[in-house]
Amino acid sequence: MRHRMHLFFAPLIAILLGLMISSSYAKERIVTAGGSITEIIYALSAQDELVGVDMTSTYPEQVKQLPQINHWHQLNIEGILSLKPSLFITWQDSEPKQIFDQLRQAKVNVLQLQRVPNNLQLLLSNIKLIAKAIHREPQGEALIAKINHQVQSVQQQIAAQQSSPRVLFLFSMSGITQVSGKNTVADSIMTLAGGENVATHHFYKNYSNEALITANPDIIIVTSQSLQAMGGKENLAKIAGVTHTNAWKHNRIVDIDQALILGMGPRIGDAIEILYRGFYPDINQ
Ligand code: HEM
Repeated sequence: MRHRMHLFFAPLIAILLGLMISSSYAKERIVTAGGSITEIIYALSAQDELVGVDMTSTYPEQVKQLPQINHWHQLNIEGILSLKPSLFITWQDSEPKQIFDQLRQAKVNVLQLQRVPNNLQLLLSNIKLIAKAIHREPQGEALIAKINHQVQSVQQQIAAQQSSPRVLFLFSMSGITQVSGKNTVADSIMTLAGGENVATHHFYKNYSNEALITANPDIIIVTSQSLQAMGGKENLAKIAGVTHTNAWKHNRIVDIDQALILGMGPRIGDAIEILYRGFYPDINQ
């Protein structure tokens, strides 16, 4: 009983403590570039200090009301500075590289986070770094505990499964379809969800008809946005090779929001749960 009471009060105490600590600091003007980073700011309840985000920041819904800068991969100094940030948080591999010197010259504090090689430990250590930078350390610890709990509970279920399904993530945008290989965030996430990525190349690559037929995944993962843009699941058949795969023949297509599969953020537990349920449909019955 005492143990349960402890579990109940610990997050509450962390939040109260956090509120006391954060309110004793001057408010930041935070600009983020990286959808997962933006989600961490919300999960730490620091959104009232957020003044701008990049175009990969699509969750939660209210983030769409904030001024937007380009993709973290194509940053533009004028766009960022126009938001008068005091703190800019992005990935170490954001581009163009000179943006970091330009921001420092403009006296903007910059927090550059490692993004790859991507795994759960990196996400948790990034949460710690962000929480420290924005004076939300207790909230950071509470968030880490929540994520660990959620991920562990899905992984216990995965451990009980007899085999790993052979999966492939097809990322289709503006008529171009690519397959995610090793060293992609999608690879880390589908592996955490119990799948075996049949693509072994590095990063993203176009697959020919033959390459897709040879890979022959049992399950194809696509983003909900791709399906919507192509006008429905049936139009996946237009991608060369798809109709020859086991995944297509047995109707094993799993769709997931692109923000959940292209980046690893505080909703990682939700992401692996969605994939896991798609990988093992029998558990849903
Ligand atoms: C409407 C257009 C686009 C949207 C909505 C979009 C969305 C996203 C999202 C949500 C992420 C994860 C970011 C994070 O969690 O921090 C991401 C990652 C990424 N995006 Fe985009 N993106 C778009 C266009 C592009 C373009 C044109 C490029 C190519 C230059 C690109 C390259 C990348 C790369 C390399 C990653 C990292 C993938 C990985 O390491 O696995 N994106 N994108």
